[in-house]
Amino acid sequence: MAKVKIRAIVLAAGKGTRMKSTTAKVLHGLCGRPMLWYVLRALRAAGVKDITVVTNPQLQERIGEFGVAGVVQEEQLGTGHAVRIALAAMPPDASGRVLITYADMPLAGEDIFSAVLSAQDASHALALVTARVALPSNFGRIVRRGGGVERIVEVRDATSTELAIDEVNAGIYAFEEAALRDAVARLRNDNAQKEYYLTDTIADLVRAGKAVMPVVTADPIDILGINDRAELALARSEMNIRLCAQHMRDGVTIVNPLSTSLEPELQIGRDTIIYPNSSIGRLSEIGERCTIGPNSRLSNVRLGNDVTVFESTVFDSSAGDRTSIGPYAHIRNESQLGEDVRIGNFVEVKNSRLARGVKASHLTYLGDAEIGEETNIGAGTITCNYDGKRKNKTKIGRDVMIGSNTSLIAPITIGDGALTGAGSVVTKDVRPGQRVAGNPAKPLPDK
Ligand code: UD1
Ligand code: CA
Repeated sequence: MAKVKIRAIVLAAGKGTRMKSTTAKVLHGLCGRPMLWYVLRALRAAGVKDITVVTNPQLQERIGEFGVAGVVQEEQLGTGHAVRIALAAMPPDASGRVLITYADMPLAGEDIFSAVLSAQDASHALALVTARVALPSNFGRIVRRGGGVERIVEVRDATSTELAIDEVNAGIYAFEEAALRDAVARLRNDNAQKEYYLTDTIADLVRAGKAVMPVVTADPIDILGINDRAELALARSEMNIRLCAQHMRDGVTIVNPLSTSLEPELQIGRDTIIYPNSSIGRLSEIGERCTIGPNSRLSNVRLGNDVTVFESTVFDSSAGDRTSIGPYAHIRNESQLGEDVRIGNFVEVKNSRLARGVKASHLTYLGDAEIGEETNIGAGTITCNYDGKRKNKTKIGRDVMIGSNTSLIAPITIGDGALTGAGSVVTKDVRPGQRVAGNPAKPLPDK
């Protein structure tokens, strides 16, 4: 199909005035990715590899993150002007084809790009995507004559009759390159916004006797152009529903997709259940039969199978099979919880490694700690890891009993099988099997 010698131009230089933001419009995100990311992903999925993005100076600084070439449009004089700038940077190809799309359409999928590319054939100098919408709002209107497309009129230049037209311009075009270069060179800015409209190339090509092929989209939501934050929210909820639907089709139960926030590129195993008010992001990988939520936030996590995260926050951390976290726990900064670990209410774990079977069931802070298998951490235990200057390590062996309300003054090592009494303030290392208590903790007489 349409997979040969196609170059794409993505227009992303617009001021985005209606966003009222200091951030470039196409860098605004939905579901954890900038708008521009989605457009580029869809283009690549449609087989387009050679992509030029027209940027403004601010966006140009970040364009490297997207793996594409950026061409700066210093002054934003309109979509036609932006295409001129891009074409000037692209070596001409007399038999080439150019796909043009706007970067503010994150819901447009690869199928739309493939369809418009297939429609632009030898007998059509141009194919463009249109949609029929009940309330066309900001979109340019498609003016037809005798069934064919005659021109596009922008809202600001439209008569009331033209405004009543319910077929709109999506902003996705496949051009014969030669025809595009000619038409763009002839554009003028004698319109309400004093801009060079790319859309004026349609009337120009029609006047020159070229045929234009409209491709009407089945679902107008696909071509939603984001101009302000209300439209961004609309696109976000649609994208999120799509992401949830994909995982549900793959065997994940999502109790309420409307209150579950997902991102692209997540892995979630079968028969995992996600309860309401939960979000999962940043390339997280979740195993099978896990229970997530309600009210949980997971970002950049790796969970094994049968893991429970209940009313809790887990960032940049991992947990092994059958581990249970929460309610009201906070796991963060590269923490690694082994299998069968129990983290209960009001427990914070930071940059720590807990081996298989460790239990910290209540009201505890474990920071910069390493804890051996089957050790029990009593309620109210604190690793006092910060001495005001640096973060110090706590090492606790296996099968240790840390009594309730123990303060462990790091750096410190507690040997295997040791015990600390309730309320101990442990300032010195404890040998394997040793029992200490008090403030400061001292060895207890043998039983
Ligand atoms: C544009 C179309 C309109 C279409 C609508 C679809 C024109 C003249 N109008 O209107 O027919 O229905 O999109 O959403 O094309 N941009 C630049 N440089 C510029 C101006 C804009 O790169 O000088 C970029 C913007 O960053 C944006 C895209 O082009 O990604 C569209 O610009 P925007 O101002 O949003 O156009 P609309 O008014 O929405
Ligand atoms: Ca727009």
